[in-house]
Amino acid sequence: MKIGPKDWLFVALIGAVLAVVLSISGEEKTKKVPFDESHQPAYETLRKTGSKIETEKGCEDCHNQATRPLPAAHPPKNRCLFCHKMKRVAP
Ligand code: HEC
Ligand code: HEC
Repeated sequence: MKIGPKDWLFVALIGAVLAVVLSISGEEKTKKVPFDESHQPAYETLRKTGSKIETEKGCEDCHNQATRPLPAAHPPKNRCLFCHKMKRVAP
């Protein structure tokens, strides 16, 4: 079988679809909330209350302008946990 221009178009189409799927399913790049000493209480709160909104209330005790300013280019910062996922921890 001869490979004509239409076949190449088809191959290109498949490639494009694949690229889109891969880019959507790719790992989210926003940093996760570390599972360390500072963040242990947050994981504890989430486990106890099951509420991300409750958990987020503690974030700004440390992540505020005075102690640990967020990067200057940080996006609007209400609802931390929409963007910064908690790591999965065994219950
Ligand atoms: C007790 C203070 C404290 C609290 C409360 C706290 N953090 Fe942090 N956070 C830190 C410190 C210190 C670091 C930097 C060192 C580290 O990784 O622990 C940090 C780092 C981070 C980082 C960057 C991690 C990285 O990979 O660079 C993210 C994201 C973060 N915190 C999110 C949160 C969120 C969301 C909450 C609320 C659920 C929160 N933090 C509550 C002290 C705190
Ligand atoms: C709209 C999404 C969004 C929300 C809401 C958000 N962040 Fe971020 N945050 C980002 C992005 C994007 C970055 C850039 C660096 C990265 O984490 O990949 C960032 C960076 C950070 C960093 C610095 C990480 C480093 O590189 O050391 C910290 C700490 C942090 N955020 C904490 C918070 C806290 C605390 C809140 C809630 C008060 C919050 N963020 C809410 C998207 C968000």
